Amino acid sequence: MADRPNPRVTVREIVRETTDACSVVLEPPAGADFDYQPGQFLTLRLPTASGQVGRCYSLCSSPHVDDELRIAVKRVRDGAASNWINDALEVGAQIECLPPSGVFTPKSLDDDLLLFAGGSGITPIISITRTALQQGTGRIVLFYANRDESSVIFAQELSELAAEYADRLVVVHWLESVQGLPTQDQLLSFASYFSSYTAFVCGPAPYMKAVTDSLKELGFPRERRHQEKFVSLGGNPFGDVEEMQAAAKTLADADDHEDDDEQPIAGPIAVEVELDGEQFSFDDWQGDKVLLEFLEEKGVDAPFSCREGNCSACACVVLEGDVTLKHNEVLDADDLADGIRLVCQSMPASEKLKITYNG
Ligand code: FES
Repeated sequence: MADRPNPRVTVREIVRETTDACSVVLEPPAGADFDYQPGQFLTLRLPTASGQVGRCYSLCSSPHVDDELRIAVKRVRDGAASNWINDALEVGAQIECLPPSGVFTPKSLDDDLLLFAGGSGITPIISITRTALQQGTGRIVLFYANRDESSVIFAQELSELAAEYADRLVVVHWLESVQGLPTQDQLLSFASYFSSYTAFVCGPAPYMKAVTDSLKELGFPRERRHQEKFVSLGGNPFGDVEEMQAAAKTLADADDHEDDDEQPIAGPIAVEVELDGEQFSFDDWQGDKVLLEFLEEKGVDAPFSCREGNCSACACVVLEGDVTLKHNEVLDADDLADGIRLVCQSMPASEKLKITYNG
C-alpha cells in the first residue's frame, strides 16, 4: 500500500473507567486543524494483532472545556480494535487519525435537550452535555441505560455534573439488572414529559430503534430527533486515496442496492457547494466518479471518513437537484426525505445540483 502522511495523535493518558471500558486522552497533532463540535468522532488507524484497522470513536471531551481530545472505548466481544485499545495501547503511542467529523451535534447549545445513551453510547452524549452546560442555557435530561451499576461509564462525572448544575441537569440511570431492558412503552412514557425538547440518541441498535420509534410516535419532528450510528469500517480510510476509491467502488458495485438499476445521468453536471461559509461552483462533473472524488479533484476540502457509505462523515443536504447513492448503511428514510445524502456515494441524478454541508 502506498502510504501518505496522515496526522498523528499522541496518547497522553489511559484511564480505566469500568472493568471493560477505558478512556484515552489524546494530544492533537501539531499544526493540524482538529477543531470539533460536541458529538463528533475521530477515525483512528489501529495496529491491532489482526492488522491495521480503521475505527470511528466519538469524542467524550468538550471543545469548550478541554484542551485535549478524549475518547472512550468499551470492549466488544471479539472486537479486534476495542480489545487492542483496552489491552495493548500504551501512553506515548502515536496513532494515525483523521480530523473530527460527524453531524451528531446540536445546532444550538441553548436548546432544551433530551439525551438517550445506552452503554458506550454515553461518549458523544457526555460531550454534548458538558458543552451545553458550560456554553448554553437550556435544560438537559439524560436517560442512561446500562447492564448493571458496574458498567456505568462516567458515573462519578455525571453525578458531579448533576450536583453542580442541579437547576439544569437531570440524570436518570436505568439498569437492566434491576429494571430489565427498557420497553418502548416505558421510553415513550418517559419522553412524553419532554416533548418540546431536542432529542439525541446513541447506543446499541435495538435501543436506538426503540427510542426513535417512541419519539416518532410522540410527534418529535425530524429536526428535533437525532441518532448516531456507527457501522464498522470495512476498508482502510488511511491508505492511498486512489486505492481507497477503488476499494469503495468495488464494494459499491458489488452491493445489491435498489438504485442499481438507475443509470446515473451523464455529465457535464453543474455543481454548487456551500462548505464552511465558502461557495464553490463547477460545471464539469462528468458523472464518471462519485461527488466526493470530483470535489477533491477540484481542491475542495470536503469532509470524509470511511468512503464506503458507513459513517455519515461526508453527509450533505441537497438544496436543488438530486443524486443517487451507490451504497448507504447510515441514512434512514427520514434522513433521505430530508434531502440528506452521502457525498462519498453520490452519483448525479439531475443536470444541476446544489448542496450544503451547513444543514
Ligand atoms: S465518508 Fe463515511 S459515509 Fe461517506
